[in-house]
Amino acid sequence: MITDLSHLKSLESWASRKTLVTCLNVIQETPDVKTFQFVAKPAQLFHFKPGQFIGIQLEIAGKKYNRSYTVASSPTRPHVIDLTVKLDNTGKVSPWLHDHVRPGTELEFRGPAGKFNCLDISSDKVLLISAGSGITPMMSMARFWCDQAVSKDIQFLSWARSTEDIIFRRELALMDYQNPHFSLEVICTQPGLKENWLGRRGRINSNLLLELVPDLTERTVFCCGPEAFMLNVKSCLQALNFDMNAYHDESFDPGGKKKASQIETQQPVNTQDKKLATGPFNLTFSKTGKTVSVEATENLLERIEAEGIAIESSCRTGNCGACQVNKVSGEVITVNETGLHQDRKNEGYILTCTTYLKSDVTLDI
Ligand SMILES: Cc1cc2nc3c(=O)[nH]c(=O)nc-3n(C[C@H](O)[C@H](O)[C@H](O)COP(=O)(O)OP(=O)(O)OC[C@H]3O[C@@H](n4cnc5c(N)ncnc54)[C@H](O)[C@@H]3O)c2cc1C
Ligand code: FES
Repeated sequence: MITDLSHLKSLESWASRKTLVTCLNVIQETPDVKTFQFVAKPAQLFHFKPGQFIGIQLEIAGKKYNRSYTVASSPTRPHVIDLTVKLDNTGKVSPWLHDHVRPGTELEFRGPAGKFNCLDISSDKVLLISAGSGITPMMSMARFWCDQAVSKDIQFLSWARSTEDIIFRRELALMDYQNPHFSLEVICTQPGLKENWLGRRGRINSNLLLELVPDLTERTVFCCGPEAFMLNVKSCLQALNFDMNAYHDESFDPGGKKKASQIETQQPVNTQDKKLATGPFNLTFSKTGKTVSVEATENLLERIEAEGIAIESSCRTGNCGACQVNKVSGEVITVNETGLHQDRKNEGYILTCTTYLKSDVTLDI
């Protein structure tokens, strides 16, 4: 356990894209969620925008994995960075983090990155909507605003399965109690709760949303949670004639699970040319001249990695720009390219993590 923080008195600011960090503390938030607190090594002050995420690359059983985690802490407390991670028992990285990270464990962070943050998107009246571990970007924003005692009008709706699953329960209650501009509503979805829960129950719906936030249309909405939850939020808002330009969300889906259904609906269906609709297509790597056959539903980044080609990645959702490569020829479908600057697009770069082939393609790797 690191207890002497005297070395933090004179510090460098967080400037590098890769930062070695040491775990300081682990907090069991709920039965399947832990917060890991880290300091930089050597000590630095962490600068990031509330809502942004960092990337971690881990080698587990000889295989490299990249994952993104939102910084749940606030840049107003810059000495320590918190990652709050939900355990996915069938996943690769979250079980490793839950089992192995303890005080003294060293990791390397990449970033920070992400446009889903409350500095690039600013507003005087906000509505934070989260479900499950999607609370992490909201918590960073809420901590940031409350630490600064800003007069911003903050309404926070947080959904959890049961009372046991309410992440940051005590801190949220304290923020609600201490801040006149902060209003919290926690809603549990599971029936038959063990605890005598006096709060709201049930899933999100338009009536509930309007009842909880009557001035909804005046607010900027930040939303994060499971894909189905975010879709529900969007359709409720649309049903209430909410201006969707004021709606912002972040997906935690690391690119591998929703892609097939997205692609099925987005691929052009051309019965004249079945190959255009379904593939397979030839993918050529110009540096080696190697060509492989790729299905239309195969994620490009995953395929490049499967071919043993070293390629950077972090968010795996099209938000950070780490996985960009130059496309020499061919057509692709990209689901999200928020993380790619227009000038890079003009130069022919694509984000491989959210891209699927639409024809034979050659990449400059
Ligand atoms: C910007 C961003 C921020 C994030 N912030 C957070 C955060 O603050 N907290 C947090 O807990 N998480 C966060 N995540 C999610 C996190 O990055 C990981 O995706 C999550 O921890 C699961 O990783 P894993 O390695 O444990 O699971 P993975 O190995 O990625 O598997 C995830 C799930 O997919 C299933 N699966 C894997 N491969 C396949 C396949 N081929 N076909 C079908 N199913 C498959 C697994 O069984 C498992 O259920 C964030 C993600 C992004 C993109
Ligand atoms: S890995 Fe972040 S944009 Fe692809």
